[in-house]
Parts: sequence; C-alpha cells; structure tokens
Amino acid sequence: MSNIGSYEERIRDFSWSISEKELGYNPGGIINIGWLCSDRICELGKAQKTGLIWENASGVVKKFTYNDIRLASNTIGQFLRDLGIKPEDRICLFMDKIPELYLGFLGILKIGAIAQPLFSAFGDESLFIRLENAWTRAIITQKKHLPKIRKILDKMPFLEFIIIVDQDPLKPLQSREIAFDLKNIPKVEVFEICPTRAESPSVLHYTSGTTGQPKGVKHVHYSIISQYLTSKWVLDLQDDDIYWCTADPGWVTGTSYGIIGAFSNGVTQCVLDAGFSAESWYRFIEKYRITMWYSAPTAIRSLMKAGDEIINKFDLSSLRHLASVGEPLNPEAVIWSEKVFGKPFLDTYWQTETGSIMISNYPGMKIKPGSMGKPFPGITATVVSPDTYESFDVPGKIGLIALKPGWPSMMRMYWNNEETYKNKFRNGWYLPGDRSSIDTDGYFWFVGRDDDVINTGGHLVSPFEVESALLEHPAVAESAVVSKPDFVNMEVVKAFVSLKPGYQPSKELDLEIMNFVRKKLSPLAMPQEIEFMDSLPKTRSGKIMRRILHAREWGEEVGDTSTLEDDDK
Ligand code: WT7
Repeated sequence: MSNIGSYEERIRDFSWSISEKELGYNPGGIINIGWLCSDRICELGKAQKTGLIWENASGVVKKFTYNDIRLASNTIGQFLRDLGIKPEDRICLFMDKIPELYLGFLGILKIGAIAQPLFSAFGDESLFIRLENAWTRAIITQKKHLPKIRKILDKMPFLEFIIIVDQDPLKPLQSREIAFDLKNIPKVEVFEICPTRAESPSVLHYTSGTTGQPKGVKHVHYSIISQYLTSKWVLDLQDDDIYWCTADPGWVTGTSYGIIGAFSNGVTQCVLDAGFSAESWYRFIEKYRITMWYSAPTAIRSLMKAGDEIINKFDLSSLRHLASVGEPLNPEAVIWSEKVFGKPFLDTYWQTETGSIMISNYPGMKIKPGSMGKPFPGITATVVSPDTYESFDVPGKIGLIALKPGWPSMMRMYWNNEETYKNKFRNGWYLPGDRSSIDTDGYFWFVGRDDDVINTGGHLVSPFEVESALLEHPAVAESAVVSKPDFVNMEVVKAFVSLKPGYQPSKELDLEIMNFVRKKLSPLAMPQEIEFMDSLPKTRSGKIMRRILHAREWGEEVGDTSTLEDDDK
C-alpha cells in the first residue's frame, strides 16, 4: 500500500496541517529543519537506525546512525558558533558529496545560520559571483577546492573563515583557513538548537536566469512541511526503504530530497560520491538493495544508451519505486524503465524556487508516459495566457504554467533582488517560466521553457553568464550562446563567436576557449561546440539575436527578422 492511498481523496480533504501535525509543529512555535532531521528521529526511537550510507569511487564506505547524524551536526554547529557565526549568517558548503556536506548542512541550520550549497565543480568565477552576492561569512570545503578559493580571496573581504574538513595536519594553513576534522573532534552531546520559526531563513540556492547574474533563492525553515509530505506521498518513503537520490546537494533536489525529505522521514539513504557509469550505478543498487530511486532524465537516457544486456548482470529486484526530475522525461524512457526494471519512472516537476514537487505522478495513479502528471494536493496549478495571465479553460491549449502562491516551501525572496522576485508574479499567479498544456483528464504536458535558459542534463545554464565569460577571453570579440539538441543531455551549450582582429579560427583556439569557460564557470557551462562567424546577427540597435541562431540549431522557422541589421540595406 502506498502512502498517498487515493490521490482523489487526498485532494478533497487536503490541508498542510496534516504535515504540521505529523512533524509535531505547532503554528507560531519553533521549527528547525536540523532538529527535525536528526534529534526528532532519535526521539522517535530510531537513534540506532542507519540514516546515511556513503560510498566513494574507491569503494570506501562510511555509515552513520541517526544518533551519529545528531551528534555530528551538533558538533559542526558548535564549531561554527564558537567562531562567532550568528543566525542568518551565510555559510557556504563547497564540497563533493562527502558526509560532511550532509552533516554540515544540518549543523548550519541548527544554529539558525543560512546554508548556501554550491556545486563543487564550479570554477572560480561562478563561485565568486555567488559568494559576493550573499556576502558569505564562511565556506566549508575540501583541500582539493582551495586553489579556486585562494584565487578570488582578495576580492572577498567579507569571507572570514575557510573551513577545511580534510586538512593535512602537517601542511601550513594560509590566511583565514581553519582545519576541522570531524573524526577527531569531541562530539557535542548536549546542544542548544537555535529556536528558529516558520519564516526564519534556512537555505540559499543559486539559480540561473536569462539575463543578469544568478539569483539567490531564499527558503525558510517552514519549507520542511512541503518537503516532508511530498517525500512521503510522491517518493513514497516508508520506514524500511533504502533510498537513493542521485542529485548533488549543490542543487535543490539534493537538499530538498537528498537531505531534508529523506532524513525527516527517517529512512536509510545511500550516497554514491563517484562519477556516472551504468555499471557502477547498477552495482550500487544491487549492493545496498535500494528500494526507492530518485534520479533524472539525463541519467536514465545514459542508462538506456548503455544497453539492456548489462542490466542482466545485476540483481535489481529490490527496486520498488522510481521517480525522476529536472528536465522533460521522454515517453520512451518511461516505457523502457517499465520493461527493464518492471517499474516506470514517475515524472515530477518543480524548480529551485518552488522548493518541493509541484506537479507529479503518484503511486497508484494511471501514468501517461510523457506527461508530468497532476498538481500535488494543496497546490493550485494551471496554464495561463501569456497576454492576459488568465487561466486557459481549453484542454490542450499551450500556456504558461501558473501556481497559486502560498505553499510552505515557496521561495520567500531572491537575495537582494526584490524587483526580479516581484516580476515572477502576475495576476495573483507565480510563474515558474515554463510552458505546458493540460489535457481533459487534468494531466500536464511540458512544452518548453519560456526564456533562453539552457537546461543541459537537468542543470540550468544562463546564456548570459557563458557569453560574459567568453568575452573575457582575449581572442573573443562577440559571443552568442544557445542550446543545441543532444540525445543524452537533451540540450547542450553551443557558442557562436566572432574573433578580434589578428586571431584566426583553429582547433587549438576552439579547445582553449572551451577550457577557459570550463575553468571559470563549470563543466556544465562549457560549450560543447564553438562556431566561429565573421559577425553575429544583430538587431538595428546592435543587440545580438540569439533567436535566429537558436532556430537554426533546432531546425525551426526563424520568424520575424525585420529588425535585423542586414535588413537595413
Ligand atoms: C526547471 C527548474 C527541480 C529540481 C531540479 C531542477 C525544468 C524540472 C521538469 C520536468 C520538464 C522540468 C523546468 C523548471 N524541469 N522538472 N519534470 N519536466 N522540465 O531545478 O534548476 O530550478 O530547474 O527545470 O524548466 O523550471 P532548477
């Protein structure tokens, strides 16, 4: 029996107080995610239950009971507090998927500070932009990432502490650096948890838009009310589940469902801190007898590509329930998973700003492969006209996805950017920036984004950020960045570049520019292809027209080109 039971019944008598009651939250009272994810689970009698199983690429395994998680997060919290970290200070987590990332996240929340997770593959420029925007006071990291931090240190007077979790005791520390060794520090048994309230800030995730710098999405402790219940009803987390969320906590899936949803439900979750290969993923499922698996379309397509024979080498019979998020899940992938795992991947739709699953397929509900499913109970979702922002009442008509604000895990603000925040609302609706239609049965069918943001392998990349990075290369005069189709990643980054006088296109320059972007921003933002042009198509006012280049890549009609520079003649 699934947790949700009947979707229709849940819709009928839904109230968020269901989640509040289960978590023991009294409206107006104290609510702390760090406490709910560790101390409370211990109080429920699961102190000795394994909460986290971690394995890395070399096969090293570490296990933590809920009591270990409670003590480790206390200890990290105390360490930060002793440094003088105060509630609402921003503390960046800049680490691979190591245990300290998960435990540190909870420790930061326990002292009421704001956790700012950043993807550890970010280059120095991506890192700097986000730390500067948040005025981050401390960063917790590994020694392998220090060079990137040291490079930008002079530009960051606000960053007081660089906490290294794997410092070699014999190596000297540089300015602002401090060593923290979870293994050897005395564990803090009794800890005073910051009495945060529903609206106390908790997590700051950065997300990319079409224009401008990345935006810091501010969440609050009350978000757990959504994350707990969606984990229970959509991911169907049950007491004996062995759960694997493949996302990195540098991104919202990895925190909302890779930390908060998992631990607040008291399940055992597994983390594989290693690169992707079909073989190692299947081996991981077999070894730990994974029952619930939350992953992403790009990974699923990569597994499809690896072929079906390899699956027969493993015993994957433990799998009970599968779900996916981050990009369109094509019907072929749903049908394939049903064939090879005996279960379909259930698509779920949401975004950094929404904090939790908004539209989804539910255990027991009829699945239409290719559809994102229906709104979570308590979520009012529709599609609206892009002109009037009135809800369309016509099945099949494509409009903007619109959500009625007010669910617990909705973002509360873009950090220091009220204008952009306000701009996300129209006619009483929150607009996530995606297009969809709704069929006669109320199922949502994703169509595409309503902006130029590139979704590559489930990661949003801003063309503006990549263009800006390209312009910093000495050879580049102009740049325009668009997506191009790709079987596995759905979209990849493609750059059009015109060169400064004295530079000639060449294979070497091509690679050099690609690497330049990879180091500055990240491997995700690195163009997979660079096309050199004498000059880029522009409007009369000199604005580069990405739309034309995009249409060319996707084999679409170019549309209205009347404002093109070349038409001036
Ligand atoms: C954007 C949000 C939500 C966690 C990971 C991404 C796209 C998300 C789906 C889906 C089609 C999807 C949307 C959305 N997206 N889920 N099931 N089908 N597209 O979070 O980085 O904030 O990206 O990803 O465009 O707005 P994010």
